[in-house]
Amino acid sequence: MKNTIHANLTQRPRRLRVSQAIRDIVCETRVHADQLIQPHFVLDQDSGTLNIPSMPGLDRMGRKELLKQVGKDLGLGIRSVMIFGLPGDAHKDNTGSGAQDAKGCVPNIVRELKNEFGNDLVVMTDVCLCAYTDHGHCGVLKEGHIENDPSLDLLASTALAHADAGADVVAPSDMMDGRIGALRTKLDGNGHEDVAIMSYAVKYASAYYGPFRDAADSAPAAGDRKTYQMDPRNSREAMREATLDEAEGADFLMVKPALAYLDVIAKVRAASDLPLAAYNVSGEYSAVKAVVEKGWLDEASVVSENLHAMVRAGADLIITYHAREALAGAWL
Ligand code: PBG
Ligand code: ZN
Repeated sequence: MKNTIHANLTQRPRRLRVSQAIRDIVCETRVHADQLIQPHFVLDQDSGTLNIPSMPGLDRMGRKELLKQVGKDLGLGIRSVMIFGLPGDAHKDNTGSGAQDAKGCVPNIVRELKNEFGNDLVVMTDVCLCAYTDHGHCGVLKEGHIENDPSLDLLASTALAHADAGADVVAPSDMMDGRIGALRTKLDGNGHEDVAIMSYAVKYASAYYGPFRDAADSAPAAGDRKTYQMDPRNSREAMREATLDEAEGADFLMVKPALAYLDVIAKVRAASDLPLAAYNVSGEYSAVKAVVEKGWLDEASVVSENLHAMVRAGADLIITYHAREALAGAWL
């Protein structure tokens, strides 16, 4: 018995933890600025900002402020952005037709970003209808039902408007069946073979989207998104969604949210060779901000731990509202 204990102690994992330097050289997971995608909410106006009460530290921005911010962020090493449009109530209607407007808020900022930063910046756009429909759903609403197939052409035309404006990557977040194929066909048919599709392939009907819906004014007026977004209790179904989207031509897959779904990130990572993004969503950001404001957790440490966990689980890329502060503060 005594010998057994002694023998076991020839193995001492603590040897590799004795100093910061040795911990750093054996560290298995690193998070690099290139992996971080900064989301932006763009107002349909030349300039001005509007704070987001439930997302401290972030503003909705007009084009002038957004261009300036993206320039500064590039200096920190943030090379990609995800753009969300805020069209304003006047531009909302029953089918979300404002989403396909070539002069809408997303195409306008995309043109300006590509003009200013060219290929130094990867411009990704969220493709959905919910910020543009008066009912706040992500597809066509008919008698209380979200109509899948009639939504596809509207979504594909939305992606085309973004691609025409110069978007590098379009990211459909609607969760209609068949949308990746519909977008690919529409893009290819219009000379955009090189525009990539990042699929929100595995997107759960999550309570963590609350602060985003405040920011984007995109909460459904009635009902919820459970007939199109995934049930948080499911994991095999995630593989089905990911497999379908890959077959339809997705260039990137995404799992969303991130922290409550690290097991899903790991599973998708193991099953696909596509680049995989994790979306560290609004509620995950706001939860950290709130608890830090209380003085109950240290922000730098907890953000670093969270972002490393996502990469450790298998994410290549992270869409995160923490990107700028994490890099500026050298939290990683
Ligand atoms: C639009 C969309 C949403 C998010 C990204 N795109 C909201 C939703 O599906 O209700 C959520 C992002 C976040 O919470 O940070 N479909
Ligand atoms: Zn939507």
